[in-house]
Amino acid sequence: MKVANLLVAFALLALASSFATAYDPSPLQDFCVGINDSKSAVFVNGKFCKNASLATPDDFFYSGLNIPGNTSNQLRAHVNLVTVDLMPGLNTLGISLARIDYEPNGGLNPPHYHPRASEILLVLKGTLYAGFVTSNPDHRLFAKTLKAGDLFVFPFGLLHFQMNVGKTPAVAIAALTSQNPGVNTVANAVFGAVPSINPEVLTTAFHLDRKLVEDLQTQTWVNPS
Ligand SMILES: *[C@@H]1O[C@H](CO)[C@@H](O)[C@H](O)[C@H]1NC(C)=O
Ligand SMILES: *[C@@H]1O[C@H](CO)[C@@H](O)[C@H](O)[C@H]1NC(C)=O
Ligand SMILES: *[C@@H]1O[C@H](CO)[C@@H](O)[C@H](O)[C@H]1NC(C)=O
Repeated sequence: MKVANLLVAFALLALASSFATAYDPSPLQDFCVGINDSKSAVFVNGKFCKNASLATPDDFFYSGLNIPGNTSNQLRAHVNLVTVDLMPGLNTLGISLARIDYEPNGGLNPPHYHPRASEILLVLKGTLYAGFVTSNPDHRLFAKTLKAGDLFVFPFGLLHFQMNVGKTPAVAIAALTSQNPGVNTVANAVFGAVPSINPEVLTTAFHLDRKLVEDLQTQTWVNPS
């Protein structure tokens, strides 16, 4: 190889690696307020690391996803999301997994989004109507009716849902691209905010009657997990 070619190749390589390292790491919790005094700091981005010599197989293990979740709630569905909090070995690995159970005829994992993850869903049994909506300005709905063996992917951070449209219980497994994907259930965040959002905001935003907004704000908004 000529010296000039070598130099060009080297320059390109240097440029590529400067792009590759030019990112900040993705947030691993909702926020991490900077603090100067390390003595009163409680979080790093993610978790502190255990001394590797003291790690055990149990750090990389979780058991119980064979057990159906308790679906006796308003949504008639249950999500068991195994994050780094339940499986410490997931720390820094960018992955987590959930089992979701849905009662027949309408069990619902309501519209929500994961601020830190994409999600791929595998239906193990039953029939789900699942979809996601793109962001402003188009709000395109991409939805499918899924049955056992079907996969559907919900892109990073987009609003999505699944509902059991069959007459039998449904079960799905979801893999997410974060050790702590976060879940923001839209109705709960909007109408169940603590303290309550000024009803004026929601009346205008949702084209709703003020009385209806106030009524919605007094209701109990259970999370699906
Ligand atoms: C943190 O330290 C920097 C540099 O000493 C200083 O400019 C800044 O005001 C400090 N911030 C707080 C919140 O104390
Ligand atoms: C990690 O654990 C090993 C084994 O107990 C110990 O020898 C070592 O000092 C520990 N390292 C730190 C940084 O604490
Ligand atoms: C399921 O949840 C409901 C409501 O919280 C509770 O009353 C019931 O005991 C739970 N069932 C089981 C089997 O844990």
